[in-house]
Amino acid sequence: MNQSVSQKMMENDFYCDAPLYTALKKYVDKDMSSFHTPGHKGRTDIFDINLSFDLTELPETDSLFECDGAIRASEVKAAELFGAKYTSVSAGGCTLAIQGMLAAFTKLGDKVLFSRNIHRSAVNAAILFGLEPFWVMHRNDCGAGLPGRIYPEDVRAALKQNPDAAAVYLTSPDYYGCMSDIGGISAVCREFRVPLLVDNAHGTHLVAFGKHPLHLGASASACSAHKTLPVLTGGAWLNCADENAAKKIKSAMALFGSTSPSYMTMTSLDVARAWLQAEGMEEFRRLACVVNELKELAVSVGFELPLGECDPIRLTLLTTNVGFNGNEAAEYFRRRGSECEHSDSVSVIFIITPFNSRRDIDRLRQAIAEFPRRQPLDPLENTMIHLPERAMSPREVLRHGREIIPTERAEGRIAAEAACPCPPGVPVVMPGEIINAKCVKILLSTGINQAVVLQ
Ligand SMILES: Cc1ncc(COP(=O)(O)O)c(C=O)c1O
Repeated sequence: MNQSVSQKMMENDFYCDAPLYTALKKYVDKDMSSFHTPGHKGRTDIFDINLSFDLTELPETDSLFECDGAIRASEVKAAELFGAKYTSVSAGGCTLAIQGMLAAFTKLGDKVLFSRNIHRSAVNAAILFGLEPFWVMHRNDCGAGLPGRIYPEDVRAALKQNPDAAAVYLTSPDYYGCMSDIGGISAVCREFRVPLLVDNAHGTHLVAFGKHPLHLGASASACSAHKTLPVLTGGAWLNCADENAAKKIKSAMALFGSTSPSYMTMTSLDVARAWLQAEGMEEFRRLACVVNELKELAVSVGFELPLGECDPIRLTLLTTNVGFNGNEAAEYFRRRGSECEHSDSVSVIFIITPFNSRRDIDRLRQAIAEFPRRQPLDPLENTMIHLPERAMSPREVLRHGREIIPTERAEGRIAAEAACPCPPGVPVVMPGEIINAKCVKILLSTGINQAVVLQ
């Protein structure tokens, strides 16, 4: 290496001409406690991975979409952990894993039963693959403003009415940590001989609690490992338990994946898996006790928690009972040095992992204990259980031009994009559906003042 070039690069003040670098440096210097992704929490003391690992396809390093060497060996080990017939690494996030999962299990024009709170990566995949979605709605069982869970009986009823469904696809746990009964839903899917595909973006670590979707009978799961494991951003796994689909996984992912996947990200997946098997499972179970104590403390000062079965390490505080909306509460926690993952008008969500330091946890504990209480806010009206009429499939939307108009003038127009207020994180209208008066009312009341519609 030409020493003078590297030295000049480190010493030169051109860094101040790099706006993203400047913004990140400024943020890092604030020394906030990270309760957001990625799960490694910026710890520089946990990885023996540095820039020298930012490699490319070489004889020793294998090649993601044609792998038969080290990458494949790391996937085989991950498959053993998750109980999969085939596991593929993704350096394109869970988004690539979701695209690969849907591509491996469906073909053009297939009907798929989707839960309504799907992430936009699944909406986009449905458009790309020309899928015909039909919907199973959530029940309002987690608390006001939250999407709620999908029930096996509702999946059964939908499959009875649509015996030609090619797959069932749902998200569990959701952003708020609420978990649907994957075991019960898998049993229904087996009864109808339909594969169950789970967006387990938020639940890779559930393997430590015997609650990973594959362990509960799902046919495949897309796991956004970077959210809760010590994995670099973009690291995810697609796990497949189905023998036939397993053969298609790599080529399905290669349809969309970059031919330059990050070796640092893929290596961090490999190391995180090894850590998880050696000691990480125990660390997550220990962490669940810490999170439980934080939950008890939060309840004692007036916060509410999502009801029913939830991810044991996700901390979601419902804030209306203490008189704050979630965004105001997030601002309070920010002032106290804790940056959350997400906030909305009813909740604030913290992603806590074994890589949060004791200081992080103490800061959060103190901030919860000293949270200022106000008069409770009015309970939220539950506006979610509502399915607009469909005009065309999501794919057909691509044949048309689109325009952006004020939401108040959108009644009767066909949506070109999903419009998704948070809460409850469930799209009010999907591409190809007709925006009705109720959609307009919900969108306006949640601050969505513009609609993307077909021309
Ligand atoms: C439920 C859900 N699915 C999928 C994704 C996409 O994951 P990634 O950002 O790893 O592509 C996200 C991202 O937040 C998500 O919340």
